Amino acid sequence: NNLPPSTAHFCHVDATAPQPSAAAAKLSHLKAVVLGEALASEDDDVVVPSHEFSRQALVPSMQKYLEMYKASIEDPAKFWSGIASSEFYWKQKWGDQVYSENLDVKKGNIKIEWFKGGITNVCYNCLDKNIDTGLGDKIAIYWESNEPGFDATLTYSQLLHRVCQLANYLKSIGVRKGDAVVVYLPMLMELPITMLACARIGAVHSVVFAGFSAESLAQRIVDCKPKVVITCNAVKRGPKTIHLKDIVDAALTESANNGISVDVCLTYENQSALKRENTKWQKGRDVWWEDVVPKYPTSCDVEWVDAEDPLFLLYTSGSTGKPKGVLHTTGGYMVYAATTFKYAFDYKDSDVYWCTADCGWITGHSYVTYGPMLNGATVVVFEGAPNYPDPGRCWDIVDKFKVTIFYTAPTLVRSLMRDGNEHVTRYSRKSLRVLGSVGEPINPSAWRWLFNVVGGSRCPISDTWWQTETGGFMITPLPGAWPQKPGSATFPFFGIQPVIVDEKGVELDGECSGYLCVKHSWPGAFRTLYGDHERYETTYFKPFSGYYFTGDGCRRDKDGYHWLTGRVDDVINVSGHRIGTAEVESALVSHPHCAEAAVVGIEHEVKGQSIYAFVTPVEGIAYSDELRKSLILTVRQQIGAFAAPDKIHWAPGLPKTRSGKIMRRILRKIASRQLDELGDTSTLADPGVVDQLIELADI
Ligand code: PRX
Repeated sequence: NNLPPSTAHFCHVDATAPQPSAAAAKLSHLKAVVLGEALASEDDDVVVPSHEFSRQALVPSMQKYLEMYKASIEDPAKFWSGIASSEFYWKQKWGDQVYSENLDVKKGNIKIEWFKGGITNVCYNCLDKNIDTGLGDKIAIYWESNEPGFDATLTYSQLLHRVCQLANYLKSIGVRKGDAVVVYLPMLMELPITMLACARIGAVHSVVFAGFSAESLAQRIVDCKPKVVITCNAVKRGPKTIHLKDIVDAALTESANNGISVDVCLTYENQSALKRENTKWQKGRDVWWEDVVPKYPTSCDVEWVDAEDPLFLLYTSGSTGKPKGVLHTTGGYMVYAATTFKYAFDYKDSDVYWCTADCGWITGHSYVTYGPMLNGATVVVFEGAPNYPDPGRCWDIVDKFKVTIFYTAPTLVRSLMRDGNEHVTRYSRKSLRVLGSVGEPINPSAWRWLFNVVGGSRCPISDTWWQTETGGFMITPLPGAWPQKPGSATFPFFGIQPVIVDEKGVELDGECSGYLCVKHSWPGAFRTLYGDHERYETTYFKPFSGYYFTGDGCRRDKDGYHWLTGRVDDVINVSGHRIGTAEVESALVSHPHCAEAAVVGIEHEVKGQSIYAFVTPVEGIAYSDELRKSLILTVRQQIGAFAAPDKIHWAPGLPKTRSGKIMRRILRKIASRQLDELGDTSTLADPGVVDQLIELADI
């Protein structure tokens, strides 16, 4: 049969007819775990959803999942077109073919298309369609400011009005279907409003996380050449005020120097952070949002677009210095983001959903804006820092809005865990029903803390594994359907066929570990890298022909559960932020006193990984504390504060092979002080370099 070995393996019975008793057998085991008894291994650590939860869940059992999964794999066209036509509005239905794909470079260009010929609009499906079915007065957004006590709400109807006003303004300045709009906004309501307004008129938004530096922003502006940049004057994050407009000004100057001038910089006056009279202004180019947008009509015709027309661009890091513009299209992304949201969080109309991610990352695209709003959900949008004014802020917000689904990142869990349980337990949190984790592997102890302390041992955790490129969840628990193992993302979502391959690309069966790939396309898959289809093919489809290569390592255990083991390429995951080692290296070597740099990731208690940089100063320059600080500053200026190395290691020389290749394996061991695991150093051009580096480790 077509089921992957993972599910066939589950429950140790015939996959097509799983026995409830197998899951029940694990229940007694669970009790032991909750009581904290020692386990043979993490693979045996199982947490079973309660009967009450499973009974009400959209997918209440493994059996139901297997039925749906099988249908999705055996006939993807039927499965996805069934969902697409029953749950979304299409102005015109797609052609004869629901999808077409080629994932094999040997057979020609890589191509993925879903619902081609179908005419729709994502904004219409998020707003107008929900309002037409009676959700007009439902809260779409609860907005919570950085400062406790300041908040705002928008109903679905109000949101539509705000979106239409902006859409009309954008049209008035000449933004048309297919034009790029760069967005550099913090978590104000204006951020999802902007995304939806672009979608409404068929413009392609490119949201840049408002923690990126002017240079990174400029790089993205130059790449996608927008008509307009949308920002705000400043934002407060915790006690700090960040002057975003100054960063945009610098980026626009830099872009102009590179031949790309932007006509309009639409700036929202974020009064709580900075008054307009204190904002630097370039007449003729800069426009206050509040002066123009509210003057436009609150209704705006929808630009109907093809399912394969682009919806957005989102830049992400890869293993070379240049960020990649991941391109998502309309129809498949819409269907996939909405469906994954619904099932992985077991969404109900009464839910209040809060995802702590910023819309500057893919999580904020698929699971702050599009996925939830396509489902007509009430979403919390939080401007501030999760530990401001104290580490209880998240639970204060959960109680305030009666949040039922809370979706966050392991790094935040670990940091709150360190601050102590009392910050959690002084809040009720009784509204919570489902928890979620994303961005990096969640270690079992953080998982247990989230489950026991935050969720009161009541709420299943959806540990969702996916990527900017995948558009939506790929491997994720369906809460209620099967027992969870803390730290495992469990099983594939409908339509997803994960495979684990060895270095030769041979698929491995049963218990195994290797490179994680995906066989066949799914509706939410990205279609290309903007302006560089060749890099798309080379990076993702050439390493293992016939498959999409994820860049992640993965282990499948004896029960078929998937355990993500981290990136196998030169990408580091710091606090759930993806950073290319090459990007940091190229920032470092741009410093006039840096001759060479090699960056590796090392384990970090809270951030998951931290950045560790080996740096060789140019001939005649002495290594000093001043140089160290100035190197770090260079990375902050060129990429952003989140990419700053935690450690600069002075390296008069780097370990290189005779052909000049840096041996990162050795650098990783030195960085993590695993000095007895350096391995064979005899192939180095100069093995003495290693001892020298060890000596300099603590300088
Ligand atoms: O290494 C995986 C890790 O984050 C990478 C994708 O990063 P990005 O495109 O920025 O998207 C982050 C949000 C989806 C993956 O290649 N990752 C993401 N979620 C998990 C994860 N690793 C383990 N478990 C997860 N749940």
